[in-house]
Amino acid sequence: MNKRILITGGAGFLGSHLCERLLQRGDEVLCVDNYFTGTRRNVEHLIGHPRFELMRHDVCFPLYVEVDEIYNLACPASPVHYQHDPVQTTKTSVHGAINMLGLAKRTNAKILQASTSEVYGDPVVHPQTEDYWGNVNPIGIRSCYDEGKRCAETLFFDYWRQHNLRIKVLRIFNTYGPSMHPNDGRVVSNFVMQALQNQDITIYGDGSQTRSFCYRDDLVEAMIRMMDTPDDVTGPINVGNPNEFTIRELAEIVIELTGSSSKIINKPLPQDDPTQRKPDISKATSELSWSPTVQIREGLVKTIEYFENIVRNEAAESTN
Ligand SMILES: NC(=O)c1ccc[n+]([C@@H]2O[C@H](COP(=O)([O-])OP(=O)(O)OC[C@H]3O[C@@H](n4cnc5c(N)ncnc54)[C@H](O)[C@@H]3O)[C@@H](O)[C@H]2O)c1
Repeated sequence: MNKRILITGGAGFLGSHLCERLLQRGDEVLCVDNYFTGTRRNVEHLIGHPRFELMRHDVCFPLYVEVDEIYNLACPASPVHYQHDPVQTTKTSVHGAINMLGLAKRTNAKILQASTSEVYGDPVVHPQTEDYWGNVNPIGIRSCYDEGKRCAETLFFDYWRQHNLRIKVLRIFNTYGPSMHPNDGRVVSNFVMQALQNQDITIYGDGSQTRSFCYRDDLVEAMIRMMDTPDDVTGPINVGNPNEFTIRELAEIVIELTGSSSKIINKPLPQDDPTQRKPDISKATSELSWSPTVQIREGLVKTIEYFENIVRNEAAESTN
């Protein structure tokens, strides 16, 4: 039997690839999105597929559909976007979670939450393990996202305790790859777009802060494995690539791979920017038999190819 699967935020960066993967597997996919940061373009190649349906809907409002599984990805993920309308960001996380959990309860569907490493805030424990409770500023400019996602996790676990819902919580660390929004201000898209246009590459702070970067396909594989775990596996489980780079190293690799003449410049660090982020993925390895397979250079080459197309198309449009 095909499963009927709802993906909220399905027209976004990760959601659109998840739609592709589940269709390839033979499932029926209902992609729901309000197109705040995602676009129809990300899924237009799927429109017309007999098992694919696209619906414009805001998860802040209840949704009445019949489904077997729900992947709850709806939420702007980059600081530029989630800080644009912080109240809406918190509503999306919290009301969105309540609405999707309500739907899961009514339909007895399994539900997966795309949570985030941001629940650890600016961590004082390295690498971050799932039992670390985090160091989050509740009133800062990132709080709408961090606290919204933390509250969503609380709701997931309360629905599990109170209503025996089958829940799956993944804490996703920085992920990059094709279909990322070119202007979302995330470090990989920023650096690649700046390098391709031979503009200065902007590093916030001195560039010694570290991040670990997971390639999109690896991440989506982990999501699917998580959904398919036995019911007693609830998470939270960290998923990401534990190979750590400084932001400066990343800028240098991007310049090398693009053959760019860009120069690196430094700007002040934004408020609450974490200094170090690295997942401990032992749980993902033992419970999902998962670890990342695509390393940074290979993933960046594919991502650069994707952004090169965007830059080429933009240039062609401006000369027409
Ligand atoms: N990419 C990462 O590095 C990363 C890291 C941690 C967590 N996550 C989480 O994974 C999920 C997907 O992230 P992404 O990187 O694909 O980001 P994205 O911004 O590309 O995707 C989010 C999608 O949700 C949609 N959306 C936003 N608000 C909505 C609403 N109220 N109703 C319906 N749809 C709405 C957007 O239009 C977009 O298509 C998010 O929940 C994000 O918090 C991503």
